[in-house]
Amino acid sequence: MTTGKKLPPGPRGIGLNRLIHRVRDHAGFFQHYHDQYGDIVYFTMMFNKMCLVYSPDIIEEVMVTKRHAFEKGPLYHRNKILVNPTTMTTVGPQHRRLRKLIQPSFRLNAIRGYAEIMIDEAVKLRDRWEDGAHINVDVPMHQLTLDIVAKAFFGRDSRVDSILLKEVLSSLGWRAALTFIPFGNFIGELPIPKNKRARQAIEDLDRVVYSVIEKARYSEEERVDLVSFLINAKDEEGIDPALTSEEVRDESYVMLIAGHETSANTLVWSFYYLSRYPEVRARLEKEVDEVLGGRLPTTEDIDHLVYAGAVMDEVLRISPPSILVGRRCIEDCELGGYHIPKGTIVQPFIRAPHRNEKYWPQATEFRPERWFEPDQPKRPTHAYIPFGAGESKCAGVAFARSEVVLTLAIITQRWRVETKSKEFPKVNTLAGFYKPTGGLPCIVHRRE
Ligand code: HEM
Repeated sequence: MTTGKKLPPGPRGIGLNRLIHRVRDHAGFFQHYHDQYGDIVYFTMMFNKMCLVYSPDIIEEVMVTKRHAFEKGPLYHRNKILVNPTTMTTVGPQHRRLRKLIQPSFRLNAIRGYAEIMIDEAVKLRDRWEDGAHINVDVPMHQLTLDIVAKAFFGRDSRVDSILLKEVLSSLGWRAALTFIPFGNFIGELPIPKNKRARQAIEDLDRVVYSVIEKARYSEEERVDLVSFLINAKDEEGIDPALTSEEVRDESYVMLIAGHETSANTLVWSFYYLSRYPEVRARLEKEVDEVLGGRLPTTEDIDHLVYAGAVMDEVLRISPPSILVGRRCIEDCELGGYHIPKGTIVQPFIRAPHRNEKYWPQATEFRPERWFEPDQPKRPTHAYIPFGAGESKCAGVAFARSEVVLTLAIITQRWRVETKSKEFPKVNTLAGFYKPTGGLPCIVHRRE
């Protein structure tokens, strides 16, 4: 059944050139179609029906008011490592049950425990740097967020480390990539080193997850890692059953994917913008010195590091690390007054409303001050969505805020990070994460 309306504007043809454009320059591809056709664009790309969405109102339709017309996360199913439905891949009642059960893992008492790990790991990183050292800041930030995830998710006593997690993430990527190529399933079964390593990494992490689950279920000690919170979570209304061990295992894989690149790239972009805007960096240094006075931060300081929070908000506005979200229409529907056929992949481009001058004057300028200005333009609710929107809004907002604000404060106490080049770096977004291609070469200087 169709709605009787027209398809949104957009180019015609099967779209081989579009595929090439998208692979070469993902962000530029989205921007190009926005500039050419407006707030909603429709086309086919190698037999896939695609719809790109740019305005807060239509984004709201996709993610909030008409969310029941969409399924999400088809890519996650493709890697064949996740067996059960997860928060990332479900909608409706199934999703509501999972959200209810993961909620305790992100309450204040849980965040306090994770924050202690964040502080310890950021201090270790800070102590490793030397004055005048040349670093690619991408590397320590990814390492840091993986070290934090290893301990916060699986416990300080678990054998998991960033090397294993890196191997697991690369295995997940490899399994997903195989589903796009002819004979991918067959290739995935061949006894080649890549497949062996992938299988081994998943088996190693599974062993850790199931042993944490055993400890959390049967030992007397109170454990404060994410896996233990998940296995012990109960529906307070007593309606939905608790998570099974396999569901906890899958959910922890999803959190690993969702909660590592995003925070690492927020930190990388923070150092880029702080280096490009020395007056912002000076104000951040002043706040850090005044609030902390040389001591280490605690969880309580996060709310007092107001300017550091505004730096994070502004980074997420100007260069959101999750550049888009993906949905697939499970029935014919209407968006922005246009007809969208069943099966269309619909992708809201998060960065578009963030860079719209109507909502954000001087939108391409990095100005954390804007977050304190009393006379800001009136904005639609979904003009700022770095963490998504509606029922599927990011579950890890408090985790990410603690991680980024604490790390910025701890590094800023001692170091000034200068990018080597003043040019805007080349960006890679193919996997959906907006990050500098090849990282961000920098020099670290000890503060006076
Ligand atoms: C600055 C860092 C982060 C950013 C920018 C970010 C962004 C997002 C976005 C845009 C979504 C929505 C995806 C969609 O609707 O399809 C999302 C969902 C999610 N994020 Fe985050 N995220 C961040 C950090 C984290 C962390 C640290 C965790 C876990 C510890 C996490 C866990 C999740 C989960 C579980 C979901 C799925 C929620 C649901 O579907 O109900 N995220 N995130």
